[in-house]
This record gives sequence, structure tokens and C-alpha cells, in this order.
Amino acid sequence: MQFGRTTLSKFVIEQTRGQHSEMGALLIDVAAAVKTISAMVGKGALSGFSGALESTNVQGEVQKKLDVLTNEAMLRHCEWGGQLAGMASEEMDEPYRIPEKYPRGRYLLIFDPLDGSSNSDVNVSVGTIFSILQRDEAGDAEAADYLQPGHRQLAAGYAIYGPATMLVLTVGTGTHGFTLDRESGNFQLTHPDIKVPEDTREFAINTSNERFWEPPVQRYVEECKAGKTGVRGADFNMRWIASMVAEVHRILMRGGIFMYPKDNKDPAKPGRLRLMYEANPMAMLIAQAGGAASTGRQRIVDVAPEALHQRVPVILGSKNEVERVERYHHEYDTGADRPFVSPLFSDRSLFRDPA
Ligand code: F6P
Ligand code: MN
Repeated sequence: MQFGRTTLSKFVIEQTRGQHSEMGALLIDVAAAVKTISAMVGKGALSGFSGALESTNVQGEVQKKLDVLTNEAMLRHCEWGGQLAGMASEEMDEPYRIPEKYPRGRYLLIFDPLDGSSNSDVNVSVGTIFSILQRDEAGDAEAADYLQPGHRQLAAGYAIYGPATMLVLTVGTGTHGFTLDRESGNFQLTHPDIKVPEDTREFAINTSNERFWEPPVQRYVEECKAGKTGVRGADFNMRWIASMVAEVHRILMRGGIFMYPKDNKDPAKPGRLRLMYEANPMAMLIAQAGGAASTGRQRIVDVAPEALHQRVPVILGSKNEVERVERYHHEYDTGADRPFVSPLFSDRSLFRDPA
């Protein structure tokens, strides 16, 4: 036990003193919800919560008992304090209205209560992602109040339920990691001011979608795979956990690039990940740690949302690699890169030598 460490509560109270002290109180409730979820998830198969329900969420995905229970945990822990104008979640079609018996505030809490939930059955790290916005005044939020670009977020964070439970948070003054001390029940500041290395030799993408990607992403991945023998002149490693929180956490700890790009698998879906409660909070955390987060064509946090559950292409992580992928998009869009034209028998040609 270490007495000297900063607890999450102390950190949050100090960082939000003054104008956003109410948000500080809200963040302490979010941390309480996260501890409840951590305890639930940590029981594994012993909890009796594993498995699917009959229902589907707004994305048409089969809901798991844990999706619904963790959503409830977030709502119950955060609804009562008088800081919120409303909440929205991946697991609810419409925003949640604060019950009449509680006072209203001006903050909006948007979350994915259990990201990567299909991984919980196989005991792989999962997480909770959250974002905080505000409206002009206290009162019930309208649907339109939620549709703000990510650069208006006041705070963002995630909890990762891995071998250790951690909460990684930004209130706009850097990105900071707290580890749950299971004996005392406190989150302790263990990773102050996290910085993502600008360069990396590690990429993460679901390559089973390769044939559906746009040419600039195909080009980037092709070059990584070519390693020392290709234009990059260096070998790359690939990782894919299929749990965004675990993926982003790895990148915050040691660098890397994560991509869930636009693809043409289902033209109705411009990417897989959701803007408001997956991409935007992760983009803010990564940017506050010196990394970058892009759709390939603009900063994620500059995307003007049109719908609460909209999807967005995500390319985030080490700055120089994200900028390279952006450049490839630009070269492709402006016609400067013509993958299949010249030279005829190169790696980028239609007539690749099968040998
Ligand atoms: O919620 C989306 C998510 O579970 C992310 O956590 C993860 O990065 C992605 O989906 C995995 O996608 P796929 O099933 O294509 O590997
Ligand atoms: Mn999710």
C-alpha cells in the first residue's frame, strides 16, 4: 500500500476546481460505475452474466447480458447527482432522460458501457469508453444537444478490464492513467502524462477486410508487410486484439497505429466504429498524449455528427504514421498516387508477378 500516490478523486477535484467542479463530481461517479463493472466483469463465468440475450441494440448487434447490466451500472451511478442534462449510450436507441426525482445539470455523458463485449466470454480485455460534453444551461438535453463535434469534449476516458483494471482520463490537460488498487478500492495515479511515441513499427488492423479497403489503406498495409524489402525499409509487427480499448491502451503505453478504416463491405456503413462514444473519446485521449486521430481525410474530432450512433473511419496512434496514412489518402484523392498504372510490373501493379 502506498500512501503517497494521488488518488483519482484528488486528481479530478484538483483539475476541475472552479468552472467545472460539477464535472469533477460526475467523473467520480463514473469511476464508481467503472469499479462496479470491473467487479462484474472480473467474476468471469462465475457471475452467471455471460451469454447473449434475445435483444439487439440499435446497431443490430446481439446484446449480451453484460452489455445491458453494465449500461444499467453507468445509468444508476451517474443519474442522481444533478450534474447531468442527459446520457446516451451504445446500448440505448434514444438518449436517456434523467428521472424527474433528480436535479438536472448541464453536462452530457455519452458512453459505450462494455466495448469489445464479445471478448468477455473468452477472457480477453474489454473496456468502458466515455465522453463528456456540455450544453449552454442546465436542463433536459434535446437530441440535438448531443450532436457536437469531438473538439468540444470537456473530458474523455476509458476503463480497461485486463489483468489490472485501469482508468485512463483526460480533462484537457494531458492523458493520465490510474490503476485500481483492489485492496483499498482506490484508483491511484500510476501513469501521469502519458506520451505516445511519434514513430512506431507496429500496426493493428483487421486484415480479413483487406479487399474492401480503399487503395490508400491497402498501400499503407502493403508497405508495412513488405518490411525491410519494401519502401519502408523496416520490418513491422502486426497486432489485432479486436477490442478497441485494449488496442488504444497498448498504443498509449508503447506507440503503434490502429486502423478501422472506411471499407466498401456495406456501403451504408462508413467504417465500423461509432463516432460519439468510441472514436471521439479515444481521439481526444490520443491527441492529449501527443498522438493523432484521423478519418484519413480529416481529424476525427472535427467530424460534424449527424446522428448519435453514426459510424466513422478511425486511424489513430503514433503521429508520424497517422500523418503518412493521411498523406496516402490525399495523394489518392488528388490523383497523385495511381496504384495500378505505373510501373507495370511493380508491387502496386495489376499485373503482379505471381512468383
Ligand atoms: O465495438 C467495436 C469493436 O468491438 C472494437 O472494440 C474492436 O476494435 C472492433 O469492434 C473489432 O472488430 P472486428 O470484429 O472486425 O475484429
Ligand atoms: Mn463498442
